[in-house]
Parts: sequence; C-alpha cells; structure tokens
Amino acid sequence: MIRTWHLGDAHQSMVLASWAGHLPEVVYWGPPLYRQDSFEAIAAASKHDVTGGMHDQNAPLSLSPEASQTFPGQAGLSARKVTGEVLAPAFRIEDEEVSDNGLKLVYADKDLGLTLALDIALTQDTSLLKLQSRLESRDDITVEWLAAPVLPAAAQTDEMIEFSGRWCAEFLTRRVPFAPGARVRDNRTGRTDHAHFPGLIVCSKGTSNTSGEAYAFHYGWSGGHRMVAEELADGRRQIQFGHATGTMAKGRSFSTAPLYATYSSTGLNGAAVKFQHHVRDQLVAETRQVRPVHYNCWEAVYFDHDLAELKSIASQAADLGAERFVLDDGWFGRRDDDTSSLGDWVIDERKFPDGLTPLIEHVKSVGMEFGIWFEPEMINENSELFRAHPEWVLGPADQPRGRHQLVLDLSVKDVQNYLYDHIAGVLKTNDIGYIKWDHNRILPVADAAQAQGLYDLIDRLRADFPNVEIESCASGGGRIDFGILERTQRVWLSDSNDALERQRIQHDAALFLPASVTGSHVGPRQCHTSGRVFDINFRAWTAAQRHMGFEMDPRELTSEEADTLKKVTSWWKSNRTWMMRADILRLDSSDPAVVAEEQLAEDGSRFVVFVAQLRTSDQILPRPLRLTGLDPEASYRVSLTNRDEAPKLSRGAPLLKTQDLEVSGQYLMSHGLILPWRFPETIWVLEGQKL
Ligand code: GLA
Repeated sequence: MIRTWHLGDAHQSMVLASWAGHLPEVVYWGPPLYRQDSFEAIAAASKHDVTGGMHDQNAPLSLSPEASQTFPGQAGLSARKVTGEVLAPAFRIEDEEVSDNGLKLVYADKDLGLTLALDIALTQDTSLLKLQSRLESRDDITVEWLAAPVLPAAAQTDEMIEFSGRWCAEFLTRRVPFAPGARVRDNRTGRTDHAHFPGLIVCSKGTSNTSGEAYAFHYGWSGGHRMVAEELADGRRQIQFGHATGTMAKGRSFSTAPLYATYSSTGLNGAAVKFQHHVRDQLVAETRQVRPVHYNCWEAVYFDHDLAELKSIASQAADLGAERFVLDDGWFGRRDDDTSSLGDWVIDERKFPDGLTPLIEHVKSVGMEFGIWFEPEMINENSELFRAHPEWVLGPADQPRGRHQLVLDLSVKDVQNYLYDHIAGVLKTNDIGYIKWDHNRILPVADAAQAQGLYDLIDRLRADFPNVEIESCASGGGRIDFGILERTQRVWLSDSNDALERQRIQHDAALFLPASVTGSHVGPRQCHTSGRVFDINFRAWTAAQRHMGFEMDPRELTSEEADTLKKVTSWWKSNRTWMMRADILRLDSSDPAVVAEEQLAEDGSRFVVFVAQLRTSDQILPRPLRLTGLDPEASYRVSLTNRDEAPKLSRGAPLLKTQDLEVSGQYLMSHGLILPWRFPETIWVLEGQKL
C-alpha cells in the first residue's frame, strides 16, 4: 500500500511516499507539479531497477535511512543502549497530522521503545521547507547522530557550493563536485563559527546567479552542525544535516534544529531571495521599523574610554548622519585590555565616575540612540566573577585559553541567572536600546546544552526588554545562523571593514541574508585588519549596500571625506525604506574583476545596482553588465548616481556618463549596460525607475 503526501506552492513541489507504513521517501522535489499529476503514479514511477552485485531490492533513501534496511550509506540515526549495544530501529507509521502547509509524521519501533517524529512544513509566503526530527526513547539511550529529515540530491545536479571561512573572511564559497563517497563537514567549535556557515547549495556546473537549478539548505543552529553529502555506490545521493558529532548526550528526548531547504529554477538568486525574505519577514522580530545608521566606537578608541572624547566623537558621528551610538568593549570592570574583567558587568567608575548617564544623555541630545557591548558567555581569570566562581567555567582547567578568556557553562541555571541579573541591571538603570552581543572564542568542548542555554538567556532578556535590539557578533561573523537570527535583529558580518574584502563577503552572504540584518560599516582610511588604504567613496558605497554604519574615528576625516560620507549617508537614508526590503540579486558579471548586485524593490518599481571594480580588468573596455528580474516589456529610466566620480582617464562619452537612459527591461537583461571606465577599488551606483 502506498501513502503519499504533497507539499507545494507556486515555486516548488515535494512529493513524499511511504510503502507499507515504512518511513517516507522524497519521490519528487522540483518545480511545481501540474494538477493532473497523480502522486501515486509518481511514487510508483520512482522505483529503480535491480541488477547484479546488489541486494534484491534497493534500500529506501527515506527521511531517515535505516541501518535495519541495510541502507548502504550513512543512516539517519545512530544510537546505542546505555550498555553499548547498537540500536537498529525499524520504524513503522504510528500517527500523522496533516495541515494546510505541513505534515507531522510519527513513526515508532515499539520493541525498542523509540518514537521518531518528522515535521515538514512549507513556510507560507517565503517558500522554504522547514524540516525537523525529534526522537523519544522509553529508556535512556546515547544518540551519536540524529539527522533532520534527509533529502535526496537530484541526479541532474553535479556540484555543491560549500561554505568555509576564517576571521575577516566569512562566507567563503567553494564548488565541489559530487563523487562516490561522503563529503562530511563536522563543526566541533561549539558555535556556528566563521569556518562553518551551516549552508549548502546543490546545483549544476552551469548554474549561475541568474539561471539554472539549485537546491539550497541551511541548518538553523548556533551550536555547531554536521553535514553529510553522500553519493552511494548505486549513484543516489543524500543530504543530511544535524548537530555536530558528540553534542547530543545521553537521554530520552532528542531534537534536531530546523533544516531549511528550497528549490530554485532561477539560479542561485531564486533560492537566495527565499532565504532573505524568510529572515526578514518571519525570523527576525524587528523592533525598529527604520534601520538607524550606526556609529560603533571600537576602531576609534578600543579600550581607551574617556568621557569627553567619547562625547566629542558622538557629536561628530551624529553630524555625519549616525543615529545609534554603540559603546563597544571597555566600559566595565577594569577592562583596559583584553586580559581582564569579562564577567564583571559593572560600569567602570574610573572611566565613568557618574555612570553611563552623562554619555547616554549626550548621545541622546545629539539625536542618537545608545547601544552597548556585552560578551556574556565569557570570563577572564582576572575577574571578580572568576575569583568567586571558578566552578562556573566550561571544560577542563588546563584547556588552552582563547583571547585570554574562558567560557561560562550556560547549561548551569545559576550562571544564566547571574548573567540575566547583571545584563538586566544595566538595561534597567540606563536608557539603552541596543546590545552588541559578542562571542570571541570557540568552546573547549562542543556541547548542545551551551547553545540552548544561550537561547534561553536571550529569550528571557527579549521577553523582559522587548524594545532592546540585539546584534549577533562573534569576532565578526562567527555566529550567523537562523537559530540566532530568531532572537536578534542584526549580525556583525565581519571584523573586516576593508571595503574590498567586504564586497566579497557581503556578496556571498547575500545567498542567505537580507540587507536589513547585515551590518556594514565605513572603516578607517587605513584598514586596521588589512593595512590597506581606500578612498572614502569606495568605503561609503560599500557600507551603503547593507545596514549602514561608521566605525572609524571621525576625527581622522578631512572635510572632503566628511562631505562625501554625509552625502552617501543621506542618500542611504532616503532610500533605506525600500532598500531594506529589496531583493538582493547577485549579477552574473562577465568580467571577473567586477562584482555586481542589483537590489530590486519589492514591487519591482525601482532598483539600485552596485558595480564594484575590485581590480583592473584584463581587457581595456568595461564589459556590458546584464541586469536581472526586470519586466522585459516595461521601460526603465536608468541613471548613474555617482557620475561625478568618473576619473580623468575616462576620456570617452558613454551615454550614462552624461545622461539617463530609457530602455526596456529586455534590453537591460539581455544586452546589459555599458558603463564608463573606472579605477580599481571604486564603485558605480546606478538607479533605475520603472516607467
Ligand atoms: C570582537 C568584535 C569586535 C569588537 C571586539 C571587542 O572582536 O568582533 O567588533 O567588538 O570584539 O573586544
């Protein structure tokens, strides 16, 4: 007997089928199916042949492939009795709940006392599949691996786009071909980490930003994930995501985080915008309608907090257009460098004898909101907290330190209460609208309870201080995932304020993140993390592509630089309402020296294109740049916003240099725009209006 289920909308269909009460298999996942399709026929048609050198039937690639069915690859569950014997459950249907856009399927192995619940939903409006597995056991067991519902990778795909990275180089992408065997990414750092963004895109060699098929995955968890992309000897492929190895302990109840997945027939952008929409409209509880321009003082003063100086910096930042002032590391305990005081969340009276109020009042008087830095999960040995509670530290006493610090054990209720009381104390007694929540080292042991403890702490603070927004930072982008984004409003994408590096990082992060949550700051003239020197236009326009802010010492700006920054900031402010809700569409540049993106308004009525010349091109003339996502039949007026930045070496007269262009969407998408020649490390900004 075949039982089928269908999840579908205008973008994709998924058909699941179960035979004789066994765990279901995905028998179709791709473009939306037509109404005349019979799901039973599709299920029946999914069965493969049997040939020599194999079993007499194909072991099902189900939502949790089973060792008991001699599945020839990694099983979806790997568990043992506490006495050590391996458990090999044979699950059979127990219950099902079907709602408009989701299924909850419950399977049991009664002999072993195990129940596996599989939740699969298609999110309304944002078209993401959200999949989660839960395992309940009658007895205590040890779970080594529990996969979120397992999905097949389609046969026509032959590549994976994987994510790696490091400090100051988040979201590095790499195309890896499928080959027999398993590709495993196991993140043992205990946090999402720069090197392990939990995403994967399965596509074809020919899939570009704007065309081709793609299947994209993201595991929404902040405690470290494990991904297995496996091609079996029979040629079938499976994608598994779950918690990092060893982070699920002994117990009776286990749950994966949600796995988000989606199909696109319109290239990488088709998947990217679904993730962008979901983060923006369904995950993030925004408390400010308008994203304020940030000023963050870290690279201006570091630990050297002096009230008069901070006031003067705040005044200048406000004059440049900043609307939120973030006091970074250095305001608490005896924090004069990074060797002490983490854990002592008490205002340093040497630096702020009258508390933070004089600074906050000043910040407010120049029209800004006040934000403050915390790194709650960490402790220095040189702190009052460590002297009082050395037992609150996570991991062994002789573990290596990271940035001279240790980690607090957030699974301990007393630790959570201590942190809650101290953070809440600062929030209650000061007018604070924003927290930059940092996490500057990897954990000594990877442990799911730590991430859960963090979620509980943030949830409690959010419930009691709903108007305080939180930014997730971990030495830049070391904790960016949909688990933390359910609880925060912004991510600090990278500690690199190097505009050249930022162009690449922002571009690749847009595969999952909308502009509204992606912090991007104008850094110092000479970048503190790379030593490179960039022109203010390049720095300012790069920050204006996301949630804009400044992080340089405003006192270093020449009056020309300050004027440019004011101009770009005021341009950003007059466009942010629609830009923070726009789709970021990565453009296929035919020149590898150029990285370009189009931000298309929700209603399609306007767009802005940022064209960054990263280095000098090999050929003499700029190659036409094709746009995307426009109405081919409509006319658009396109203008070069910053045409006054054309260098003298641009001697000719391409039309956009002096005039606007009125032309069809078809022309813009198929021929593309010819731009004036420009220097490396500069950006053209184009604005388009649908006529
Ligand atoms: C981390 C963050 C920085 C800054 C410092 C402060 O490195 O990523 O932005 O807040 O900590 O110590």
